[in-house]
Amino acid sequence: MREASRGARHASQRLGLVPTMGALHEGHVSLVRAAKAACDVVAASIFVNPTQFGPNEDFAKYPRSFERDRELLEREGVELLFAPTVEEMYPAPADRNVGPPPATWVTVEELSGKLDGRSRPGHFRGVTTVVAKLFHIVEPDAAFFGQKDAAQVAVIRRMVGDLNFPVEIVACPIVREADGLAMSSRNAYLDGVQRKQALVLHRSLMSVRKMVEAGERSAARLAAVGREELAGEKLVRLDYFEIVNAETLDPVEDVSGGALVAVAAFVGTTRLIDNILIGKTNNQEDRHG
Ligand code: PAJ
Repeated sequence: MREASRGARHASQRLGLVPTMGALHEGHVSLVRAAKAACDVVAASIFVNPTQFGPNEDFAKYPRSFERDRELLEREGVELLFAPTVEEMYPAPADRNVGPPPATWVTVEELSGKLDGRSRPGHFRGVTTVVAKLFHIVEPDAAFFGQKDAAQVAVIRRMVGDLNFPVEIVACPIVREADGLAMSSRNAYLDGVQRKQALVLHRSLMSVRKMVEAGERSAARLAAVGREELAGEKLVRLDYFEIVNAETLDPVEDVSGGALVAVAAFVGTTRLIDNILIGKTNNQEDRHG
């Protein structure tokens, strides 16, 4: 991987990286296309990263479809595919035949306990550690992430700033199914009934957006409506519905300055997330000075 990336750099080519855990769908493809449009050479990684899964989470049963993914990436014009094994990414010390965890972690302390980090302790530490490793191995000029995982984008941006990684972080819009469900590798876990129930996440965000468009600015009132919508779907268990600053992930009281509206919920045992960004208000007074 390093040799290939060094080759690109010597040829003054801009190298883009799309990190993934595989089981690729149109959301991943949108990142590849954004990378292809902005870079001369595109690398993708496929690695189901054990350190970002909790002990009771779905690491073992996470969908894996390597051959299909490889063909798809090739069709999309991805030049380099990095697909290491767990042993390659997290080599065991010579005198112990155990794999992860590593001894060295990268943790964005201020952010990694917020939103998904609060319900998934250790999750973001695993993400930032593996993304730091991928950045060191691939040495990309730019890396492409989905806004679907809004907290992940915030955490990675902060890591890159704090640790001076020379990598531009590009966040790409959420790709949805025709009925609004955000695409996710985990949607494959849903049965027909759950698939319908899962639509409540997007519906709750649309209710909030409508209220904002009608002039509501109170985060508390907006979140109450979102939570109520979720409560209406009896078999869906809310994890969080929060309205926060998109960079600090701290709650906001008033959404006039822009905000991230984020929801996470369990449909059966499947945990799904979704979010929207509310723009800064652009009222008449602002526009006309
Ligand atoms: P994974 O869940 O495979 O997602 C890889 C990338 O695809 C992430 O940046 C994610 O936000 C993006 N993505 C997923 N669904 C999307 C959708 N519907 N629309 C747009 N983008 C979408 O996120 C990870 O893997 C891992 O945490 C990783 C960053 C690879 C580190 O292990």
